[in-house]
Amino acid sequence: MSARVPFGIRPLAPALGAEISGLDLLDTLADNTVAAVRQAWLDHQVLLFRNQNLDDAQLTAFSRHFGDLDSVPGWEPFSPPGHPNVLIISNVREDGTAIGVLGDGEASWHTDMSYLDQPPPGSLLYSLEVPDRGGDTCFMSMYAALDALPADLRAAIEGKSLNHDSSHDSAGKLRSNHSAFDNVSVAPGARHPMIRAHPETGRPAIFLGRRLHAWVVGENIANSEALLDRIWDHCIDEAFTYRHRWQPGDLLMWDNRCTMHRRDPFDAGARRVMHRTQLKGYQSVEAAA
Ligand SMILES: [Fe+2]
Repeated sequence: MSARVPFGIRPLAPALGAEISGLDLLDTLADNTVAAVRQAWLDHQVLLFRNQNLDDAQLTAFSRHFGDLDSVPGWEPFSPPGHPNVLIISNVREDGTAIGVLGDGEASWHTDMSYLDQPPPGSLLYSLEVPDRGGDTCFMSMYAALDALPADLRAAIEGKSLNHDSSHDSAGKLRSNHSAFDNVSVAPGARHPMIRAHPETGRPAIFLGRRLHAWVVGENIANSEALLDRIWDHCIDEAFTYRHRWQPGDLLMWDNRCTMHRRDPFDAGARRVMHRTQLKGYQSVEAAA
C-alpha cells in the first residue's frame, strides 16, 4: 500500500479483514480517499471502522461512495422512516412489534442473495446496540478457501455450476410465494460457476451461496450432495475466517463476491440493533427481460 494512503490499515486475521483507523466518516471524503478505501476493501475483503457515530443519512451517504444502494423490497416496515436504503437488523420488539429482521437466532454460512443473477456486491453493517455475549459475525475468505483447495477437489468443481435456491429464506423456511419440492435439481434460483473470478480484482474464488438446497448442475443428486459435502468440509476451517466481536459504533463493510458470513445466536433477552445498507447488483439483459 502506498505511504500516501490517508488512514491506517491493520489486518484483523491472516485470511481477511482489516481495521481502518484515522478516518472520520462524517468528514467529506476526497475522491482519492474514497478510492483508497475501495482498494483496501478489495485487498482485505472486510473492513472495520470503529467508534463511529453515524445517523441513517450519514450511513447512507458513506455507503453511496461504493455504488448504488438497494431498497429493501418486502421489508419496508423495517426501514427507518425517510431512509429507504437502510434495513434494521434486530431482535428488539417495541409494543409487541419487531423493529427489525432476523431475530436472535443463528444464521448459517451464506453469501447474501446469491440466488439472484447479479447478487449484491457488498453490504455495510453498523452497530448501535450489541449483546454482552453472542451475536458475533464471522467472515470467510473464499479466495483463501480456493487457494488451499486440494487439486483433486479443484478439478472436481472446475467448470461446474451451482444452482442457488431462491425459494427458502436464510433460516431454511419456504418463502410464502414458492412451492415445496423434493428434488433440489428443480429448485428455482440462479446458476453461478463454482469457481468465479472476482469482477474487480480478477482473482478466482469459490462461490457457494448456501449449503441447503444447493445443486451441482448436471449431477445426480447423490453425487451433487457428496461433492458439496466435501467442498463445504474443506471451506469450514478457521484458517479462512475472521470472527468479529461487535462494539457499539462499529461499521463493517464486506465484499459479498469473495466472502461468506454467518452469525452466532445470542440471548433473546439481550438487545442487538444494527442498521444495514446493501450495494445494488446489476442485472443482466436476460434477467431484466
Ligand atoms: Fe447475510
